[in-house]
Amino acid sequence: PGFLILNGPNLNLLGFRQPEVYGRTTLADVEAMCRAHAKEIGVEVEFEQSNHEGALIDAIHGTRGRLDGLILNAGAYTHTSIALMDAISSAEVPAIELHLSNVHARESFRHQSYIARVSVGVICGFGARGYTLAMDAMKSHLDAAS
Ligand code: DQA
Repeated sequence: PGFLILNGPNLNLLGFRQPEVYGRTTLADVEAMCRAHAKEIGVEVEFEQSNHEGALIDAIHGTRGRLDGLILNAGAYTHTSIALMDAISSAEVPAIELHLSNVHARESFRHQSYIARVSVGVICGFGARGYTLAMDAMKSHLDAAS
């Protein structure tokens, strides 16, 4: 199976940006962790980041009929973007919503998610480890479905 691990706005600054909230692990570190974990569990991964909503939509469309799962940390677009929600529905790919922080323990505007409505499930609050947890969750979801 092949997964796209897609990261939205401001996540390019992971490790430097508000480390008290998001930790000191950089996005390059996260990518390395995901690639190592992919080998361990026998999946292929593509790893991308964009600060642009349209580029994220294009990347989601690119999974359609080509990849088996989408792991999406949409950053703040999680809470605002009907267009990203519609892109996931249009791609017809199983999605997992991911956040480093526990969004439910934070400001109320982070409690609302358009992505969760079209996702198999949500992982949040486990920091960078959430990425490999999400990979395991996607693999187990696909195994259960097949
Ligand atoms: C985030 C949580 C979002 O609310 C926030 O806007 C982010 C990062 C997280 O990974 O914890 O940019 O998605």
